[in-house]
Amino acid sequence: MKKVTIYVDNSATTKPLQEVMQTFVAVNEQYYANPASIHAMGVEANDLLMRAREQVADILHTEAKNVLFTSGGTESNNTAIFGLARSNTHKGKHILTTVIEHPSVLEPMKQLAQEGFEVEYLQVNQSGVISLDELQAKLRKDTILVSIMHVNNEIGAIQPITEAAKMIHAHSRAAFHVDAIQSFGKLPIAFAGEEGPDCISISGHKIHALKGSGVLAFRKQMVWQPYALGGGQEFGLRSGTVAVPQAVTLAKAARLATSNMQERMDNYREWHGALYKQLCDYGEAVHILSTPQGAAHILSFSIRDLKGEVIVNAMQKRGVIVSTSSACSSKQTKTSHVVEALHINEHFKNGVIRISFGVHVTESDIVQLQRVIKEIMLELKGE
Ligand SMILES: Cc1ncc(COP(=O)(O)O)c(C=O)c1O
Repeated sequence: MKKVTIYVDNSATTKPLQEVMQTFVAVNEQYYANPASIHAMGVEANDLLMRAREQVADILHTEAKNVLFTSGGTESNNTAIFGLARSNTHKGKHILTTVIEHPSVLEPMKQLAQEGFEVEYLQVNQSGVISLDELQAKLRKDTILVSIMHVNNEIGAIQPITEAAKMIHAHSRAAFHVDAIQSFGKLPIAFAGEEGPDCISISGHKIHALKGSGVLAFRKQMVWQPYALGGGQEFGLRSGTVAVPQAVTLAKAARLATSNMQERMDNYREWHGALYKQLCDYGEAVHILSTPQGAAHILSFSIRDLKGEVIVNAMQKRGVIVSTSSACSSKQTKTSHVVEALHINEHFKNGVIRISFGVHVTESDIVQLQRVIKEIMLELKGE
């Protein structure tokens, strides 16, 4: 493979930061004891773990006892959905989610439907955004769980989470779970107070920490049926020896991601705007799925009648790494459920490409990326 010069597939995964890797090695070398052990080394490892928990809790404006470390976004989503649904059957069995969630939400929902829960799906408009009117209309007395993602991983659509949280708390007894895996460190999340979601999922490898690290955080303590049973770690809510190095490095990456967020997002917004404008200039040859109102770090588009793989390969040949619409479905041949939900023209359905920024992307990468897009468009026209 040609040397990678520009990596713009950060929504699939990010390159870990140097300081994250140094911390990972240092913690593994010095604090490898089991944090549940009562000897001095165990106590030291546990102290470090607790500090990481407090740091994440501070960032999210919750208490340390409401922060669970998990193995990643999929586990956080599964744990939240199964836990909150199965613990609340005495209140009802009605669940709401959206048609554009990540498979780590949709698959547990399918499983719950098989177990007798009634799962309803909110539709999205052409920009990939739900309707609050539809949410309000679908909320019921027996709704026990609502799960809505903050930023969609394929197109960057932002859902009105704060307004949804207010509505859900005002009109139902449902717990509100938010998959914040693509938004944490990129958008502020109003998690504190009565108006926030009840619980959110975060994944380490999307914020330049390591794969195999995640968080499930609660706004306040909740009634909860654990999903992983065993030694009773993580307040009895998630059994399994806690991976201290993963937790510590996630906390570090979370601090870095949130400390200079605005500055980074201003750059991303500018780059998003420049690429958006360039793509608009190709008129009917290109369909842009993302909108200027969407998340600044994700830009999805499709070239008329072209397969996604063809564009990925054409870009790769020129040293640019992008994905087809989502890394998870990119090896599948069927059109992604997100693209289906947007009802776009058939000519554009199979060629969706996602560009996603991360901290290592530079201004000159964007200039180079624009040059590559121009070249590919000329090549396609046979000029
Ligand atoms: C929105 C969203 N939710 C959940 C996940 C799953 O996270 P993980 O890869 O950490 O299991 C992803 C990963 O692509 C995602 O983008």
